[in-house]
Amino acid sequence: WVLVVTARTPTNIAVIKYWGKRDEKLILPVNDSISVTLDPDHLCTTTTVAVSPSFDQDRMWLNGKEISLSGGRFQSCLREIRSRASDVEDKEKGIKISKEDWEKLHVHIASYNNFPTAAGLASSAAGFACFVFSLAKLMNVNEDQSKLSAIARQGSGSACRSLFGGFVKWIMGKDKNGSDSLAVQLADEEHWDDLVILVAVVSSRQKETSSTSGMRESVETSLLLQHRAKEVVPKRILQMEEAIKNRDFASFAQLTCADSNQFHAVCLDTSPPIFYMNDTSHKIISIVEKWNRSEGTPQVAYTFDAGPNAVLIARNRKVAALLLQRLLFYFPPNSDSDLNSYIHGDKSI
Ligand code: DP6
Repeated sequence: WVLVVTARTPTNIAVIKYWGKRDEKLILPVNDSISVTLDPDHLCTTTTVAVSPSFDQDRMWLNGKEISLSGGRFQSCLREIRSRASDVEDKEKGIKISKEDWEKLHVHIASYNNFPTAAGLASSAAGFACFVFSLAKLMNVNEDQSKLSAIARQGSGSACRSLFGGFVKWIMGKDKNGSDSLAVQLADEEHWDDLVILVAVVSSRQKETSSTSGMRESVETSLLLQHRAKEVVPKRILQMEEAIKNRDFASFAQLTCADSNQFHAVCLDTSPPIFYMNDTSHKIISIVEKWNRSEGTPQVAYTFDAGPNAVLIARNRKVAALLLQRLLFYFPPNSDSDLNSYIHGDKSI
């Protein structure tokens, strides 16, 4: 017999960034972060997990290619989920798995991303969230989403925020063992449904410096990171929570853009400096800044993760349509810009 579970998890985009760990192994951050989870129809990971007595080892495929599960992060998540497994019974198929059986049974995992892997589009976030969620369903783990988020966190920090929809806060926690470093939902997906999120894929190439090594170097060398984590983010988190609660787009946009810019300033303050944005990213920032200033109140917020792609948050559908028009004007089809092929291609938005 084979027992199968499939799950789909969207990616999330941080509006107050996580950058820096105080514990590398448990993945405990130096500050709280806040994100918005994207619509599951767009950027998401779909994972199918299967268990069968005929499987002789745990195996995994990512986008159709087998990958090694021996890495510490996969192993931590698998171990945490297995240790919480409960009895499973499927009467129709005549399957009965006891709590103890899970230690001996092996799983096969197949995962697909519908967007570029490791191009700064938070693929590890959706990936590990889906990995943990689907295994937890298969193994009948009776834990709430926040507890599961603390397991997903051990796969990739940002993954803990993808266990919820809407606006999500990753509380950094205080415990040395990480038990209180988990995600909570601040507002569900209906709370602020005027917002439209546009992802402008500037480049779908793999990034040069992974988030993991980039943030390690920043922790080791950037003084700005210390200041940011202690002095800036705690205040910003409170202001952002207030802005989300009140659907206050002006504050939301101001905080989102400022936090993205400070995160990239920390990258520049790292030795050697890390450049995630490119000229196209900078041009997008100028376009949005100019537009917001000319309107007197922000219409669009921008944020960039560990890569050059822009995540643009428009205050409503009308603004999103105008934004798209402007992007097409500044990055016309068949010009030299990187952006075109993606704006016009099927990978666009
Ligand atoms: C810039 O979660 O990918 O996207 O915990 O080492 O796996 P690891 O890092 P990761 O870092 C994400 C960094 C970021 C900001 C964010 O998502 O908050």
